[in-house]
Amino acid sequence: ENLIIAIDGPAGAGKSTISKLVSKRLDINYLDTGAMYRAITYKCIEEGININNEEEVIKICESSDVDFRNNQIYLDGKNIDIEIRRQEVSSNVSNVAKIKKVRKLLVARQREIASESDAILDGRDVGTCIFPDARYKFFLSASAQERGRRRYEELKSKGEDVDLDNIIEDIKKRDKIDSTREVSPLIKAEDAIEIDSTSMSINEVVDYIIDAVES
Ligand code: C5P
Repeated sequence: ENLIIAIDGPAGAGKSTISKLVSKRLDINYLDTGAMYRAITYKCIEEGININNEEEVIKICESSDVDFRNNQIYLDGKNIDIEIRRQEVSSNVSNVAKIKKVRKLLVARQREIASESDAILDGRDVGTCIFPDARYKFFLSASAQERGRRRYEELKSKGEDVDLDNIIEDIKKRDKIDSTREVSPLIKAEDAIEIDSTSMSINEVVDYIIDAVES
């Protein structure tokens, strides 16, 4: 049986940074499940689909090929790894992710991709829904203020014109939609280990996870 490590938590908690580092240290696969919801959202925006029109969004999802190559996301064969991080995608993605049928399609694909080898997955429902039997589950959190600050520094370092208050607002809005939706809402799995990273460095979190997995 494959080793599965689940990393769930709210927006901007550092899940992807930490998951990538853990995957390198353990030499296992990394699957960014949020990137798949972002890919569908990106395609809807590109095709001028109204995100509130569930039927249309589902059609887009059903007819899309979402895949990863070298940890980069591909939509219908095209690399869209940069595009999916745009603000417009971030502010719409939670409304796409709350559609039941979209989740059903993407969760099936996530299970398929992850079952090929040992893997660490990050998302909102990895430990509760995608792999409820995952051997290791972590719930990574931090204060909204700190999560906003980190996201702000990250975007600023990429030369983007960003506003801290807007970022914090956006993070809170996404958390609210993600944790109150009907299907597999963002919630800590009962058997997940919670890590509050507000005053921890990236390396401290990575070491904590590696220690837990190797002990
Ligand atoms: O992880 P990331 O912030 O890129 O995820 C973007 C959005 O995708 C989340 O805010 C959430 O709405 C959705 N998502 C989800 N389930 C997952 C991963 C992401 O609903 N497993």
